[in-house]
Amino acid sequence: MQKEKIFEQLTKQIDKCRTCRLCKTRNKAVPGEGNLKAEVVFIGEGPGYNEDLQGRPFVGRAGDLLEGLLRIIGARRNDIWIGNVVKCRPPENRNPMVDEIRSCKPYLIEQLRIINPKLIIPLGRFAFEHFFPAGKISRDHGKAFRIGERIVLPLYHPAAALRSEAVLQQLKNDFRKIPRLLHSDSEEIIAVTRHPKDENQMLLI
Ligand code: URA
Repeated sequence: MQKEKIFEQLTKQIDKCRTCRLCKTRNKAVPGEGNLKAEVVFIGEGPGYNEDLQGRPFVGRAGDLLEGLLRIIGARRNDIWIGNVVKCRPPENRNPMVDEIRSCKPYLIEQLRIINPKLIIPLGRFAFEHFFPAGKISRDHGKAFRIGERIVLPLYHPAAALRSEAVLQQLKNDFRKIPRLLHSDSEEIIAVTRHPKDENQMLLI
C-alpha cells in the first residue's frame, strides 16, 4: 500500500482513539501534519488549547515561534512534518502522565517508521525522553545523536523559549545547526546504541 494511504489510516485511528483517559476531555485529537517526504520532523509534547480546538499541531504562540525559527533556516511548515508525543490535550495543559505517554507511543513510532526522516527534532523534555529515557534537555539540547541512519537533535521547547530570553537565544543557536546536520557529515555527532529490550528506545552512551 502507498505511504500516504497507510498514513491516512493511522491518522483516522488516532482521531478516534480511546486508549487513555485523555480522549474524555479532548475536543479533537491532533495526529500531526506536514510533508510525508520530509527529511526533518519536529516532535512536541502534546496539544495545547488551540491545537485541541483545531486538531492541528503547533497553531498557537509556540507554533508562531516555531515558524519564525524555521524561517531563520530558510524552511517553511510545508517542508517538514510536525507531531507530538501525546495526541490529545492533557486537561489544563498539565504534563502528560506516564501511562498516557505509554499508550500513545506506538502511534509516534509508526508515524516515524512511515515518514522515515533523516533528522528527528524532539522539542522539550517529554519528546526527548521518548527517544532517550535518561536524556536531560538542559544538558543535551543542541547535541546531535546518530541512531542508525537517523540523527536526533533535541532542542528546547518553543513554549519554554517564550518564557525565557536566555532559552530563546539558545534555541536560535541550536536551530542554526539543522542545515549543517542535513547536508554534511562533518558535524560532531554522538553515536548511541539501542535499548536491548526495546529497539525503539535509544540509550545515551
Ligand atoms: N506544544 C506542543 O508540544 N505541541 C503542540 O502541538 C503545541 C504546543
